[in-house]
Amino acid sequence: MQKTRVLHQSDIFQAVELIKQGGLVAFPTETVYGLGAPIFLRKSIQRIFDVKGRPSNNPLIAHISDLDQVLRIAKNPPEVFFKLADVFFPGPLTIIVEKREDVPDEASGGLSTIGIRMPDHPIALELIDALGVPLAAPSANLSGKPSSTCVEHVLQDFSGKIAAVIDGGPCCLGIESTVLLLSEQGPRILRPGFVTQEMLSEVLSIPVQIGSKEQGGYSPGTQFRHYSPQATVKLCYQTQPEQLKPHAKKQIILKEVSQSNLFASLRKADQEGYDEIVIICTPEMQADSALMDRLTRAAEKKD
Ligand code: TXA
Ligand code: MG
Repeated sequence: MQKTRVLHQSDIFQAVELIKQGGLVAFPTETVYGLGAPIFLRKSIQRIFDVKGRPSNNPLIAHISDLDQVLRIAKNPPEVFFKLADVFFPGPLTIIVEKREDVPDEASGGLSTIGIRMPDHPIALELIDALGVPLAAPSANLSGKPSSTCVEHVLQDFSGKIAAVIDGGPCCLGIESTVLLLSEQGPRILRPGFVTQEMLSEVLSIPVQIGSKEQGGYSPGTQFRHYSPQATVKLCYQTQPEQLKPHAKKQIILKEVSQSNLFASLRKADQEGYDEIVIICTPEMQADSALMDRLTRAAEKKD
């Protein structure tokens, strides 16, 4: 058991030292906290999967701070990659392209592709810049649990198991990046996020598909149960909560859930010992495909 240190922006050089020595460090981004290791450091990458309990075929995203780093990990990235990067980097978009052979298979979950994202957060950018290599990082939560949007969440899941977390306060967006696959079949969203289908189509001037397994949209991460608190999550599409039947179990009704407070609300309900979380899905929420994606997956039945 190690003591997990809580570092601040002024301590980034210490975070860099810990990472170079093989330690795992969680860091803030504008979406959620990430748990990072240099992409070429196989041992540390392996540790990320171990501490998260993450299936080894679920690939990590490579976080960059400069477009020059793209060529160290991507093989002949297409022009559209740079067109999108020009508009959306830094920001909540991950773009999947063919990877270079020397990018460890451990990081890419055995796939020949790699997701690339430049986070829009000064701490993340400074950290990657100081390391000088892309930082492979999944969201900083135990596999299957809600992502972490503040330091307390990271410590709930990893206290004593990782070297440090850098405190950047609460993440401003609160849900993970949009994941976009670029392939010969055209662009396809594998995970909805703040950057929408419409925003992407407008920049690319071609339609962008929404991926599903049947249509060949393949994201290993979407096959697993996800975002789930201990409590059972139920979605309610009636806006009048009094229509809900009273329940024997310890139940909380959440009425104003948004992208930015979703994961914090789920984690808080667990901390407070609720058995069941009922979420009222207003028409406004139902129009938010990224939010509904996370909600429906959080509400999937436990095996
Ligand atoms: O906002 C975010 O994206 C956060 C912050 C930390 O950057 N990261 C994040 O990483 O959410 P993670 O590992 O929790 O989710 C990455 C998702 C998974 O569903 C994974 O399967 C998918 O992206 N993914 C990554 N690389 C892929 C690839 N090469 N092909 C298909 N799906 C990929
Ligand atoms: Mg995740």
